Amino acid sequence: MARINDHYLKLKAGYLFPEIGRRVSAFTDSHPESAAKLIRCGIGDVTEPLPQAAREAMHRAIDELGVRDTFRGYGPEQGYDFLRAAIAENNYRKQGMAIADDEIFVSDGSKCDTGNFLDILGPGNRVAITDPVYPVYVDTNVMIGNTGDANAEGAYEGLVYLPCTAENAFVPAIPDEDVDVIYLCYPNNPTGATASKEQLTAWVDYAKARNALILYDAAYEAFISDPEIPHSIYEIPGAETCAIEFRSFSKNGGFTGVRCGYTVVPKTVIGSTASGENQALHPLWNRRMCTKFNSVSYPVQRGAEAIFSEAGQAQVKALISHYMGNAQLLSQTCQEIGLEVHGGRNAPYIWVGCPDGTDSWGMFDKMLEEASVVITPGSGFGAAGEGYFRISAFNSRENVEEVCLRMKAMAF
Ligand code: MLT
Repeated sequence: MARINDHYLKLKAGYLFPEIGRRVSAFTDSHPESAAKLIRCGIGDVTEPLPQAAREAMHRAIDELGVRDTFRGYGPEQGYDFLRAAIAENNYRKQGMAIADDEIFVSDGSKCDTGNFLDILGPGNRVAITDPVYPVYVDTNVMIGNTGDANAEGAYEGLVYLPCTAENAFVPAIPDEDVDVIYLCYPNNPTGATASKEQLTAWVDYAKARNALILYDAAYEAFISDPEIPHSIYEIPGAETCAIEFRSFSKNGGFTGVRCGYTVVPKTVIGSTASGENQALHPLWNRRMCTKFNSVSYPVQRGAEAIFSEAGQAQVKALISHYMGNAQLLSQTCQEIGLEVHGGRNAPYIWVGCPDGTDSWGMFDKMLEEASVVITPGSGFGAAGEGYFRISAFNSRENVEEVCLRMKAMAF
């Protein structure tokens, strides 16, 4: 009989968003009158149409595939040169970061890559994650066997949890102990917090001093408007020796369904073999991608390339300002009704304190039952998320205005 990966049995319940979906379906089945007016501000999924520049580029690419002379079969596993160059040039070199084209690996998204990256890391790493945290980092470490069992609060034995609280503005303190791998995500999902240059410098200094690896998720960098806030970990000197960066076209270009992201693996990032020799990660990730991936379809990569065109940039800017306008309305409403509000200024997530006496899932139920609005309970992101809920600003303006009206009509 085939042996299963027993580590999967340690995972708590379902993945957060399908679990929310299950609860929402149960509610709408038993309250059909509420189903029609349901507004989803739970999962951070875009709602606005794809930028025209991306759509036109994808149409052109499909037409190319319909002609023998311009037809393409398998593309390079690492992504087409045109897209790798556009990313490295526009998102890094133009900003003064020395990232080479071949240090960019195109993929089907940063959720997948943050999980897949564990393929090239060995067993026995001491892994640090923030709490609250994007659940993918935790679950993928559980799946691969980097943890023991979860305790009653859902914390896994073996992981180092770095509490992110209102007191530390949701940027964790540097740990006293040694860890081998640290996941950081800024602008942060779920708290909407950002990390300053000084804070990221402290993390890079720690990683360099302790030979640790930073896995930096910058999927939400396009939402930063404050010029002082770094968009990339490579803005910090030394990060090119100790950090991997994950980025995505999902939230800026609206590619959540189209699927395209990328991972930056500088050739200077080194890990250790079991026998203690230095080994660059770049050839390992390249090897992993060649064996397990055939990259993203040609039309999608052309669509992603078009995001960097002048028209594409203007269209992305309009999308971001639409979502950030939503974030402002939602933040303002939560403040007006007397709730504690964080995030929502350089990130599309608003992290809100639950009213006294209500816990995170209690707030989820209250919003569903009294306002037909889906939010994400903070405790779904970790024990330190208890007492908070997350509202996503990815929605139409009409829906957001309606959510604001419904929230103002609720009793807190
Ligand atoms: C979220 O709601 O946290 C996002 O949808 C996460 C993701 O992009 O996978």
